[in-house]
Amino acid sequence: MPPALNRLAEDLNSRLEAAAPEVLAMLSAYGRRIYFPKGILSQGAEAKKHAHKVNATIGIATEGGHAMHLSSMARHVGDLAPEEIYNYAPPAGRPGLRERWREKLLEENPSLRGKQFGLPVTTAAITHGLSLVGELFLDPGDLLVLPDKLWGNYRLGFEVRLGAEIVTYPFFRGQGFNTEGFAEALATHARGREKLVVLLNFPNNPTGYMPTAAEGDAIAAALVAQAEAGTRIVALCDDAYFGLFYHLGGESMTESLFGLLTGRHPNLLAVKLDGATKELFAWGLRCGFITFGPGRPDSAEEVCTVLDAKARGAIRAAISNSPMLSQSVVEKALSSPSLADERKEKSELLRARAARVFEVTGSPRFAESWEVYPFNSGYFMCVKVQGVDAETVRKRLLEDEGIGVISTGPHDIRVAFSCLEEEGVEPLFEALHRVVQKLRTD
Ligand SMILES: Cc1ncc(COP(=O)(O)O)c(C=O)c1O
Repeated sequence: MPPALNRLAEDLNSRLEAAAPEVLAMLSAYGRRIYFPKGILSQGAEAKKHAHKVNATIGIATEGGHAMHLSSMARHVGDLAPEEIYNYAPPAGRPGLRERWREKLLEENPSLRGKQFGLPVTTAAITHGLSLVGELFLDPGDLLVLPDKLWGNYRLGFEVRLGAEIVTYPFFRGQGFNTEGFAEALATHARGREKLVVLLNFPNNPTGYMPTAAEGDAIAAALVAQAEAGTRIVALCDDAYFGLFYHLGGESMTESLFGLLTGRHPNLLAVKLDGATKELFAWGLRCGFITFGPGRPDSAEEVCTVLDAKARGAIRAAISNSPMLSQSVVEKALSSPSLADERKEKSELLRARAARVFEVTGSPRFAESWEVYPFNSGYFMCVKVQGVDAETVRKRLLEDEGIGVISTGPHDIRVAFSCLEEEGVEPLFEALHRVVQKLRTD
């Protein structure tokens, strides 16, 4: 017998039923059960507002009105106040951080302006965000539609952990994104199902591909058409590499599909997963966000309030809250007037490396060793090695040449140009060419 629904979960579900029954139907069994309790946290939040004399609610230790702390730690963390370092953060994150990230989304995604979407919920980086939305929207046996070039960790998180099934379609058609194949995959997999979860990861890991504006429109149109046909679609936008756009070989779009998908159809819920990880070059801080973009503008606020409570409940249940120190650092960085220039400088450095890779790998003399998959953004690019097994190439490249790359499929090799100096680009591909040729004549 499944556990009975808590009254607070029932309340959230009936609010969702009234505001957007389609979204209630998208939730997993866990998504329906979860709620944010009126326990220590909400009583503590009330006390924080109104307890003017003494606040004896919180589960930390204080001294002289501040969070108690040890000097062996304090001397390493600069000029942050003890409360910004050691205290617990609220389950959905520091309010100021959430506001700053929302402002950033609006600034960088013109399509979002004037649309109704939620306040970002802070997560312990993007993997955690993906795991939370998986819990909220995927039941065992549910389908997750992805292209055949994908970040391998989705398999662990969605298939192994949650029992969902990943189905793929070919990523490329010619020199661009396979928009027809994407639309076909939606139609095929929607047959006999009420719900699909679709994951869009652009710029893509492992290929480094960001769609053109026309491809972006076609992706959005295919999702809206499938929603119109009656399928409930949760569209997850994994924007981990957002902002790193280099326009190699032609112009790509420069905003998230989230903006194009929000407010489009009641059967289409857009969910944005992003974070400081790659965008702010802060991988180990573990600071990310989930943002909801409902399909019905008129009830979007209510839907976001309910999904926010469910996300907070799921965070509370699993990790309680995300690190305060990281959130304080990211919040302050987002308020820094020089942040945009600093990001641009780093992005330019990566663009120069990507441009060098583009030039070197496309050289006709390498055509007998590999085909280059289109790339224009992000951290990575992939080649399809000709006539040899990618894993064998990877091992030989490591053994014979001391160079590490990743084999991501039977014929695909992924190169992270993000960590290659420009002058290291040509030697790497020369070595790859040598190894492929050697293996072919062995
Ligand atoms: C496509 C994609 N999504 C998510 C992540 C994970 O990001 P985080 O380190 O913020 O969990 C990565 C990291 O490699 C990634 O490539």
